[in-house]
Amino acid sequence: MANIATLEINGEKYEFPLIEGTEKEVAIDIKNLRSTTGGVTTIDPGYKNTGSCESSITFLDGEKGILSYRGYSIEELAEKADFLEVAYLLIFGELPTKEQNDKFHEDIKAESLVDDDIRKIVDAFPKSAHPMGVLSSLTSALTAFNPSSVNVDSEEDMYKSVVRILGKFPVLVAWTLRKKQGLPLDYGDKNLGYVENVLKMMFKKPNEEYVQNKIVVDALDKLLILHADHEQNCSTSTVRIVGSSHAGLFASLSAGISALWGPLHGGANQAVLEMLEAIKEDGGDTKKYMAKAKDKEDPFRLMGFGHRVYKNFDPRAKIIKVAADEVLADLGVEDPILEIAKGLEQEALNDDYFVKRKLYPNVDFYSGIIYRGMGIPTDMFTVMFALGRLPGWIAQWREMRLRKEPIGRPRQLYIGETKRPFVPINKR
Ligand code: SDX
Repeated sequence: MANIATLEINGEKYEFPLIEGTEKEVAIDIKNLRSTTGGVTTIDPGYKNTGSCESSITFLDGEKGILSYRGYSIEELAEKADFLEVAYLLIFGELPTKEQNDKFHEDIKAESLVDDDIRKIVDAFPKSAHPMGVLSSLTSALTAFNPSSVNVDSEEDMYKSVVRILGKFPVLVAWTLRKKQGLPLDYGDKNLGYVENVLKMMFKKPNEEYVQNKIVVDALDKLLILHADHEQNCSTSTVRIVGSSHAGLFASLSAGISALWGPLHGGANQAVLEMLEAIKEDGGDTKKYMAKAKDKEDPFRLMGFGHRVYKNFDPRAKIIKVAADEVLADLGVEDPILEIAKGLEQEALNDDYFVKRKLYPNVDFYSGIIYRGMGIPTDMFTVMFALGRLPGWIAQWREMRLRKEPIGRPRQLYIGETKRPFVPINKR
């Protein structure tokens, strides 16, 4: 294959390098497009065709439904690794040795205390506040208590920031839930595993012992792995562009949480459950909602379906669908919502509108069903997504800073008024 792309504009030919990634993807390097063509740029709403960076962290093949973290398949990692191992892999590039993994966990535990003044910020929120707004605020507030911005060129400084946020974030997640439930804020237990500690902080009642349920622990560990990174999705791109101005790590993560909140992105797992509940209330009339999803006059979309990159099954959805069956059966939970979801999936997979547009179930379609089976409230589902995505955001932020990427500042095509004289107010 030639390693040059040729562009012809008004009879003038311009050549641009073709670059190939390690998975044989090909990109046109247009770094010098504007300067060599005398000002011509590109337009690509939603960046559907535009790469923002070169990255070594996560690979997706949307046509084949492939997802891998640092070269390891999501199927193997979900089956054989635990969440902290995957977090270490994403951030530092290699699976940890046992010693590295044990030290990583100990260092995270050492950072798992949150300044008691943050409790006052939690107290200031109304119980009705959406947990994602609370979590984004608390994450940004961490900057106030950990003011030193990260020196990314110092391995030690970067490691310290990584274990600090991985230690404190689960506490903020738990406090966000307990605030809504009017429960005292818990600091967790250093003798527990990472996921066990998350569950205990979230669910321990002050007047009773908290009994771990291994099924729930294993299911949550797997869900966090499946959500841990997903290349340049909306929230990760947000973390990268905020960090590209050299804003701090916690401030960049807070922005990413806000981007994830949207129902077209991470907020879809909550929207899926609300949609399935509405269908159930409507007598399970899935055909009505399928028609709404296809009606261009109706803003309704089938939540949990479709994906910017996957034009095949989202590999994570396949794994979560199997886990949903297992977890609910193991927990003895009969959830009619699961049956409605399966019925809706079958209808969509056989409907011409969805087949033609290659709209398949994505990661959010089944995850909410498991979270609900585990007793997690619906408006906390996207918070759980953020807990899983945290190491991916950190890894992508660190890569962007270590590669000394320029500040993100897209161009535009101006289509507004051309130059016109000012009109004094008494003449308008
Ligand atoms: C996540 O990017 C990531 O990697 C994200 C994520 C991650 O891990 O970070 O994977 C997590 O965000 C998963 C997606 C969760 N969102 C939802 O489930 C919300 C419902 N899905 C859609 O809103 C939509 O599919 C998007 C936002 C996910 C993708 O939208 P695109 O790529 O911009 O596609 P599009 O809007 O241009 O749609 C193409 C066509 C359109 O119809 P036509 O104009 O061609 O006639 O497909 C239709 C759309 O109307 N369409 C849908 C649909 N999704 C797309 N029609 C009905 N229901 C849907 N869900």
